Amino acid sequence: MDQQNQPAAVQEKQQVVFSAIQPSGSITLGNYIGALRNFSGFEDAKARLYCVADLHSLTVRQDPALLRKRSLSLAALYIACGLDPKENIIYCQSHVPCHTELSWILNCFTYMGELNRMTQFKDKSAKHADNINAGLFTYPVLMASDILLYQTTTVPVGIDQKQHVEICRDIAQRFNGIYGEVFTLPEPYIRKTSAKIQSLSEPTKKMSKSDPEESFVSVFDTPDAIRRKIRRAVTDSENEIRYDPENKPGVSNLLTICSALENKPVEEVAAGFAGLGYGALKDAAAEAIIKEFTPIQEKYNALLQNKDELSAILQENASRAQALAMKTLRKVYKKVGLLQL
Ligand code: TRP
Repeated sequence: MDQQNQPAAVQEKQQVVFSAIQPSGSITLGNYIGALRNFSGFEDAKARLYCVADLHSLTVRQDPALLRKRSLSLAALYIACGLDPKENIIYCQSHVPCHTELSWILNCFTYMGELNRMTQFKDKSAKHADNINAGLFTYPVLMASDILLYQTTTVPVGIDQKQHVEICRDIAQRFNGIYGEVFTLPEPYIRKTSAKIQSLSEPTKKMSKSDPEESFVSVFDTPDAIRRKIRRAVTDSENEIRYDPENKPGVSNLLTICSALENKPVEEVAAGFAGLGYGALKDAAAEAIIKEFTPIQEKYNALLQNKDELSAILQENASRAQALAMKTLRKVYKKVGLLQL
């Protein structure tokens, strides 16, 4: 995989990789290409943690039974995507209390003005105008805690989360400025190619699981559903296949999907369609998605056959995470002056 954004100073052996996804809603092709897929490929790191950010999901109202189901499902999906729970730490955020404990401390080192500038907060408060809760506002502080607890060096995320990793660095720097070198400063790791997949029905908007069904492909869609959705994807009234996100957002989005899944530069993919129509591009995109998702779905279904075993894995992984997290939390408690008995 391309590691071009990797901080040069970080030797692979001392790399700590952390990332998380919220278990709210289906995991889309956009989440897969933008985030999940980039979780693999850090085999030489000292530690790799992939968390199900269930506490973050509570910033928006959830159906309790569904949230539980989706949390287990997302953990299974991580494993199905090739993240071995013996080599990685796969766990739920709420199973490791250190996250919320550190979050309180860091809340006291984060300014209202900084949080006010977060674009995700602005977007989400516009979308959920009837529930602009304090959790939505302090969301980036919990995310900073997730990252900083493990002395993370590398955070594989989609481009939309870059701002959150930046505020995390600002908080860490501020804290270190007062108390000495407590936190490692993390770097976002964003693949240069195809970090962002757009909606199929409104290709000028990001693909989102909270939009109508036909606007996104889910990791769990059947081949038929994938073909149908891609066939209906909005393009334009020309018939030229060319990568031009500004003037041809729909076609460019399909090219981006092919480019990401086939690991080829987008221009090369576009050149391959010279003289062909949009139908050929759509077929190619659909087949590339099906080829990628079929083995993942098979492994996922097998894992969910045995929920007890899956729960045992998550429990064991959470205790490994907790042990690592405690080291940082103890240090922080001591530095800020909480009484140690
Ligand atoms: N905010 C991220 C998202 O919505 C999920 C997340 C929570 C995360 N904690 C994190 C991502 C820590 C990276 C690191 O996608």
